[in-house]
Amino acid sequence: MKVTFYGHSCFLAESGTGAVLFDPFLSGNPSAAVSADQVRCDAILLSHAHGDHVGDAVGIANRLNIPVVAVYELATVLGWQGITAHAQHLGGAHDYPFGRVKFTPAAHGSCMIDEAHQQIVYCGTPASILYTAERRTVFHLGDTALLSDFELVGRLNQVDLMLVPIGDNYTMGPEDAAEAVRMVRPKRVVPCHYDTFPLIAQDPRRFARLVGDVAEVVILKPGESTEV
Ligand code: NI
Ligand code: MN
Repeated sequence: MKVTFYGHSCFLAESGTGAVLFDPFLSGNPSAAVSADQVRCDAILLSHAHGDHVGDAVGIANRLNIPVVAVYELATVLGWQGITAHAQHLGGAHDYPFGRVKFTPAAHGSCMIDEAHQQIVYCGTPASILYTAERRTVFHLGDTALLSDFELVGRLNQVDLMLVPIGDNYTMGPEDAAEAVRMVRPKRVVPCHYDTFPLIAQDPRRFARLVGDVAEVVILKPGESTEV
């Protein structure tokens, strides 16, 4: 499986069964390595409803006529916007032609902001995403605090590649992210959700030092890929 970092929390995972796009925040993302008009995939997987994760999901889903997979409440809200959304929920897995998707708990928010009416649109619980294709498993944590639940994910799954936020302020910082790696014990880990904005500036090499030899840390610049 080839996994390409497109900036912030957006990754493309490609294998013989298809290509899935995680959290496609591309328009308005200063670090985006591909445009929403040009990216290609067979499905979009969303961790939660915040703008820097849903991003261009509706536009890409419409252009390519592909499904979006999200937890039930977010899938419902996106369905109102005219796209095909497959609803799952925490703890449930489903097999698609493009691979297996399972949502696991994350500790964060998940809503959309209706500026015009100064209202918050509830979109259910945030999630982390286990994606398996061709016997390779990627664990995309989305936005989350450190949870003891990650220990369980690591015990029950052989994670080949963990995609972990390290930006601090809204999510785990480097120390907590390194502890999450010690719980999940993936073969390889790529840090994300940092440096997009000054508020989440981090040195990923410091994260790599904190992880030590527990897992192989691969620091990707937007546009770069890793094979698992
Ligand atoms: Ni968020
Ligand atoms: Mn975020």
